[in-house]
Amino acid sequence: MGDVSAGHGGRPWWESGVIYQIYPRSFQDSDGDGIGDLEGIRRRLDHVVELGVDAIWLSPIFPSPMADFGYDVADYCGVEAMFGDLAAFDALLADAHARGLKVLLDFVPNHSSTQHPWFVESRSSRDNPKRDWYIWRDPAPDGGPPNNWTSDMGGSAWELDPATGQYYMHAFLKEQADLNWRNPEVRAAMMDVLRFWFDRGVDGFRIDVLWHCVKAEGLPDNPPNPDYRAGMGEKLKVLQQHSTDQPEVHDIANAFRTLADRYGERLLVGEIVLPLDRLVTYYGTPDSPGVHLPFNFHLLDAPWNAAALARIIGDYEAALPPGGWPNWVLGSHDFPRVAGKLGEAQARVAAMLLLTLRGTPTIYQGDELGIGRVAIPPERVRDPQDLRQPGLGLGRDAARTPMPWDGGPQAGFSTGEPWLPLNADWATRNVATQAADPHSMLSLHRRLLALRRSHAALSRGDFVLLPSAPDVLQYERRCGDERLLVALNLASEARPLQLPGDPARFEPLLSTHGRKAFDGALAPDEGLILMQEAR
Ligand code: NOJ
Repeated sequence: MGDVSAGHGGRPWWESGVIYQIYPRSFQDSDGDGIGDLEGIRRRLDHVVELGVDAIWLSPIFPSPMADFGYDVADYCGVEAMFGDLAAFDALLADAHARGLKVLLDFVPNHSSTQHPWFVESRSSRDNPKRDWYIWRDPAPDGGPPNNWTSDMGGSAWELDPATGQYYMHAFLKEQADLNWRNPEVRAAMMDVLRFWFDRGVDGFRIDVLWHCVKAEGLPDNPPNPDYRAGMGEKLKVLQQHSTDQPEVHDIANAFRTLADRYGERLLVGEIVLPLDRLVTYYGTPDSPGVHLPFNFHLLDAPWNAAALARIIGDYEAALPPGGWPNWVLGSHDFPRVAGKLGEAQARVAAMLLLTLRGTPTIYQGDELGIGRVAIPPERVRDPQDLRQPGLGLGRDAARTPMPWDGGPQAGFSTGEPWLPLNADWATRNVATQAADPHSMLSLHRRLLALRRSHAALSRGDFVLLPSAPDVLQYERRCGDERLLVALNLASEARPLQLPGDPARFEPLLSTHGRKAFDGALAPDEGLILMQEAR
């Protein structure tokens, strides 16, 4: 398996690499329709290169009716017209590669759009050859849905098709029908999709809701969730015991992996939202490897205090299988903005955490600017999850607002009206303004990424949690003789810095506060990286 590269100390690029998630609708519009596109991304590659990341992951770019903004794919081997065409994709890929950037696409195998020709055929009659490509069942005896499964977007996971008198299953919107991964033809067709893009030169995939792909035989009812309360999203009514995370999914992950490895050094990142003990099973086994990186979302809902973070990091490190490479995420197009949750001061600390933990980090576009809460007026809500279950705070639009590039009209994002509003402070919180300010969030990210690149201890070194003062999370990264100490003050008051040795032997490399000297204490909300002199 061609899984190594001479350029990265014999290790694959993605172990020391950093991934940057681009939400194509909201990165850069090049044709004035208010929606971002591939040519826009190509024109903004400078930003990504100057930031200092190694790979971009593009949320879905495929033809789609956009019921779930591209996660409802109508053709797995094409490009959505509002984003461009295959030629625009090839141009973006070539430019990215020329700049040393890898490109990951978003593979959505669990479900397709109901407008995908496969589903159109499947629904056309009960005996259509593609009927079994999706999950069709007769109504329950009372005419209702075949079982109690709920959709993640609210309501039943079943939709009745009056023409054929059966229900089809959809874990998400009714416009997103779940494929039947127990059917070998589905599997073969999807492997062809991966081949199509690998042959075009893509460097890997983020795999949407991988843990959903197989359902339990017989589709038994899910157990009720004893913790469900009114006001929670309806997906929480039942525990997804039989509708997700089935043993057979690992065989599929292994098939993806085997194919990816045949192409050389390609990366598969699986989206898996599960407790740690289940998450790590998606690394697979030595005989049957799974995805390279099962996405680790455990920082996203972490209580923001030093003790809780230390526990999460420790538990995750301990749960990893031998050889399993860690990864960390702080934001995405599905979760509230990190700076909105923590405020800017702690968002700076969080950035230092993300970029100094052991493992591959993924940065979500706009988090490098510290975009915080964005109010979406009711008439501008676009997220189907919010529209279907209003008032529950499930909206994802606020994390999907357009990138603010400069102080010009529409923040340089578009010459037209953006599909979602900009962050209210875009006139000052934008790339151009922050690039000119050495103390900005963007400058902090650039410094952190440069430091990570120049210190092997940060990119691939061992991780050791250290004792610390209360409210301080402190750890060391070690590689050979190099030892870097990271101390993060989670409190908004000063805290003592307890160094494991003579303070004179520690040289400050980077402070979130921009100070060059340190005095034995951490300022309120300060993160600090120090280099320990070799003995
Ligand atoms: C996870 C994606 O990140 C999310 O945006 C989407 O709604 C669901 N999967 C369904 O594809």
